[in-house]
Amino acid sequence: MADTPQEIHSVLTEARVFPPPEAFARRAHIRGMQDYQRLWDEAAKAPEKYWGDRAREELYWKEPFQTVLDWKPPHARWFVEGRTNLAYNCLDRHLPALKDKPAILFEGEPGDRRRITYGELSAEVNRMANGLKSLGVRKGDRVGIYLPMVPEAAVAMLACARIGAVHSVVFGGFSAEALQERMNDAGARVLLTADGGWRKGAVVPLLKNVTAALANTPSLEKVVVLKRTADVAIPSGSKWVAWDALVQGQSDVCEPEWVESEHPLFILYTSGSTGKPKGVLHTTAGYALGASLTTRWVFDLREDDVYWCTADVGWVTGHSYVVYGPLMNGVSTVMYEGAPTHPGPDRFWELIARYKATILYTAPTAIRAFMRLGEEHPRKHDLSSLRLLGSVGEPINPEAWMWYRDVIGGGRCPVVDTWWQTETGSIMISPLPGATPTKPGSATFPLPGIHAEILDRAGKPVPRGQGGLLFITKPWPSMLRSVYGDPERYVRTYFSELPGRYFTGDGARTDQDGYFWLMGRVDDVVNVAGHRLGTAEVESALVAHAKVSESAVVGRPDDLKGTALVAFVTLKAGIRPSPELKKELAAHVSKEIGAIARPDEIRFAEGLPKTRSGKIMRRLLRDVAAGKQATGDTTTLEDLNVLAALSQNDE
Ligand code: PRX
Repeated sequence: MADTPQEIHSVLTEARVFPPPEAFARRAHIRGMQDYQRLWDEAAKAPEKYWGDRAREELYWKEPFQTVLDWKPPHARWFVEGRTNLAYNCLDRHLPALKDKPAILFEGEPGDRRRITYGELSAEVNRMANGLKSLGVRKGDRVGIYLPMVPEAAVAMLACARIGAVHSVVFGGFSAEALQERMNDAGARVLLTADGGWRKGAVVPLLKNVTAALANTPSLEKVVVLKRTADVAIPSGSKWVAWDALVQGQSDVCEPEWVESEHPLFILYTSGSTGKPKGVLHTTAGYALGASLTTRWVFDLREDDVYWCTADVGWVTGHSYVVYGPLMNGVSTVMYEGAPTHPGPDRFWELIARYKATILYTAPTAIRAFMRLGEEHPRKHDLSSLRLLGSVGEPINPEAWMWYRDVIGGGRCPVVDTWWQTETGSIMISPLPGATPTKPGSATFPLPGIHAEILDRAGKPVPRGQGGLLFITKPWPSMLRSVYGDPERYVRTYFSELPGRYFTGDGARTDQDGYFWLMGRVDDVVNVAGHRLGTAEVESALVAHAKVSESAVVGRPDDLKGTALVAFVTLKAGIRPSPELKKELAAHVSKEIGAIARPDEIRFAEGLPKTRSGKIMRRLLRDVAAGKQATGDTTTLEDLNVLAALSQNDE
């Protein structure tokens, strides 16, 4: 059960304000709050004209659209009659001018490097697109992608987009079980993967996981394997295809499939408040517009930028801000395969110095980890190429924001704290670095055309300074269109809190100046190290273990990860709690979902606090996990003794 707005207390008071540096503002795309306000007003007054104009400027259209928006709440169709192709927008249209410009600057964890120009990337994409066609992949077919952070991940995505296939990228850190569940839900026909990837000096056993997943993925006809770590051989059998063999000999010309605007582009699974991940469905033109426009405005892109977003392609940030956004804008994007601190704590800073990166976009959890490692590591490297810093994934605490600005940005780079979600497709609330005076820890204001409102459960705006629920009250082009295979869940999850208005699941407040401050999730979803996890997913993994009878998983504030996972577990009759069993359960969750979901703490309990109707009172467990006295209303609690026992149980 989500907290009610009255329970969302805001504790932050932050008074520092940093106006955009003058020299930065002078050259920026949007040069001051007046410009921002003008765009905002224009978009608010005539949204269809505003978005229609942007779509015509931003994208190449094979056939123009006539209708900007067809909105039958909660279903939107954007740029209805138009036809376009996202791979064409990322590659072909740049080719005359940018053929020899680096599109991707790649560095593998072991130190291998590749510089791939727009011309080369385009040829690679076309060969893979033809390769996919030769396997029988057609427009609308789903293709799974389970790859490390190597250029081939971008090639795979773009090749799908080129032929109108729908990609579903699964993060390489997910387990065989998680991969299997996603491939089956999407009904993927082909999976593009690798033997392994490098992480912290070790091989991530992708092929091993794929082989295990294949035991129960009836829809998968072919698995294409890229050689990356060369530690295992590709199995023999008609299902298996070597990547190199597939693309070799294919033509580097492939006519793009001119798809209708609303043709599905990708499915990306994300956690919700139930145990089953949701396949967030994005379509072509609206998503493309959102990714392209926000990359240019929020990062204030210039032609000569070397842009580095550290996200993995397995997350939406990797989709919009490693691959599609930067490539649509024709900049050079850095792609790094491995861990931020391998082989040493200064790997990121070494990369910035080597590639002369001008923009860095990363997550608060990484920033906090770097803070802990000490200033001496970034100080060893020349970071003077940087001109802008971005943050995404969770609220950034003002201390980390200041450290980022001062130590990494040398006090001269604006910091953009960008709020958005897998479902929103692109950045929604963020400073525009040449316009917005920033406050450490605030995502500042919604972008033009984005109607973000903080409301109570009855739909009434909450006064400034008071916490409430964050809604987006008007449709926007890059919004999700559905939950794949479960349209009813789309309506229930996002549009049932207040019909017709999109519920983000986040709490927020505005301050006296109207700045937005995000306050974290209000549903049973937690944000661990920048990744969204449904506590119900972890619970159902635990309950699937033979020795577990019941479990409740909650978040506890954690300096480094933002939130740590605490699992309360009751065991089946006759099973004795032991430290070994805790390890066994933690390993079990890793196997079921992946290491990101491994509980930080497991507590055995005789019973869990429940309401009289049998609902677990997670609110009380959150207090217990945080070492606080359980507060608030316990009148519906069935057995007070359970709570007393839990508070004592801190072995
Ligand atoms: O709670 C918000 C948090 O991350 C959630 C979205 O997670 P996901 O779909 O995995 O996408 C992550 C990358 C966009 C949001 O509901 N979140 C994301 N960015 C911020 C944030 N919370 C506060 N400030 C942010 N800048």
